[in-house]
Amino acid sequence: MSLLIKNGRIITAEQDYIADIYIEKDKITTIGLSLNIQADKIIDAKGKYVIPGGIDVHTHLDMPFGGTTSSDDFETGTIGAAFGGTTSLIDFAIQPKGKSMREGLDIWRKKAEGKATIDYGFHMIITDLPDERICEMDDMVAEGVTSFKLFLAYPNVLMVDDATIFKALKQTSKNGGLVCMHAENGMVIDHIVKETVAKGNLSPLYHALSRPAAAEGESTNRAIALAEMAGTPIYIVHLTCNDALIKVSEARDKGQPVFAETCPQYLYLSIDDISKPDFEGAKYVFSPPVREKWNQEKLWAGLQKNDLQVVSTDHCPFNFKGQKDMGKDNFTKIPNGGPGLENRLHLMYQGGVNEKRFSLNRWVEITSTNPAKIFGMYPRKGTITPGSDADIVIWDPQKEHTISAKTHHMRVDYSMFEGKKVKGDTDLVISRGEVIVENKKFLGKAGRGNFVKRDTHGAAWN
Ligand code: URP
Ligand code: ZN
Ligand code: ZN
Repeated sequence: MSLLIKNGRIITAEQDYIADIYIEKDKITTIGLSLNIQADKIIDAKGKYVIPGGIDVHTHLDMPFGGTTSSDDFETGTIGAAFGGTTSLIDFAIQPKGKSMREGLDIWRKKAEGKATIDYGFHMIITDLPDERICEMDDMVAEGVTSFKLFLAYPNVLMVDDATIFKALKQTSKNGGLVCMHAENGMVIDHIVKETVAKGNLSPLYHALSRPAAAEGESTNRAIALAEMAGTPIYIVHLTCNDALIKVSEARDKGQPVFAETCPQYLYLSIDDISKPDFEGAKYVFSPPVREKWNQEKLWAGLQKNDLQVVSTDHCPFNFKGQKDMGKDNFTKIPNGGPGLENRLHLMYQGGVNEKRFSLNRWVEITSTNPAKIFGMYPRKGTITPGSDADIVIWDPQKEHTISAKTHHMRVDYSMFEGKKVKGDTDLVISRGEVIVENKKFLGKAGRGNFVKRDTHGAAWN
């Protein structure tokens, strides 16, 4: 199968020019002006942007959590992703406590195989790291699982102690892997939660009020200090607030290799949303929580200044009816997480490009190129160049779209961004040379997505 994309405006993190792209099988082979090559399908992209497929490095598909399982599996979640212009994702496999990382990886590979419609990789969540298991981190890196997530939150579930984090960081200083940190002070939060519940404060709002921004600032600082002591880079996931951002910014100013991501929910939602009456606030229960609104402009500025390099979604969907309502009478029972995999490119285009906070190049950089570089997929993915995978989105900058659960493709009964109007939408989505979305129809099939064996993060330093 060959494809010829004609007359499109190609936007990468560095470039912006009009040319034709020729794709043979799964790769881009030629880029040039007025290419005169026969192809099985010719796509006219005049007036459209041609961008590298989006890469979402933070999803939780088919994940058991909070007494239930996230509602999208690898088929439904990746279909939603494709409609939104995301052609690769990195999900989180979990090491079962007391067992090997390999067991965790096997479980997650089985969840994805036969289902994923776009390419996918895995981070490994480390729940347990006795000395005899440290070498398993090297095995993971050798197999292309080159990043690890550790938690300073969720005591008795996923939280590990500082020594465990330090040991993991030291190992990545040798094997080139990257530690990703969920930075919230779990012990202090647990104490506040108990006090809050004892006072009878049980509505969703108290989820946010019992997880203060200072608890994220403290843990972000601690994680960065541990990485400094271990002499290795670190990546802070789902950063929400100024308290944490200033810690990242200070460290980067000193020259420490600290990376961080934020998510659309922290740029668009706030404490006002979780305060909604009649339990509606439960739709916005995730951790770390929504913050006071003023933090949003700080995060946008963090993206502008490159203190934040990536926007991911932390897509962890639970239905409002049947899942979120497990916590109807007590916010501690509401499964933590929200849906967003399909909406990332739209929301970042709207808030970033349309609202003139940053350029088209920067939009591509934070949604595709930086994720590929930091997580070892560049230049195979995250750019448009001869030799790279033909993961391409044709983006119509004029097409208007209202985000709604009525029209989205993710398997979840609400949208966190219901009613939000965005200008700019996907026209056509290509994954490894195959058109998988065209005219609002899904043309891919379950199981066509490949596991991506990732390299280490060296490209992030170029
Ligand atoms: O609330 C969230 N974010 N759920 C998913 C797990 C995590 O901490 O990323
Ligand atoms: Zn987390
Ligand atoms: Zn997450």
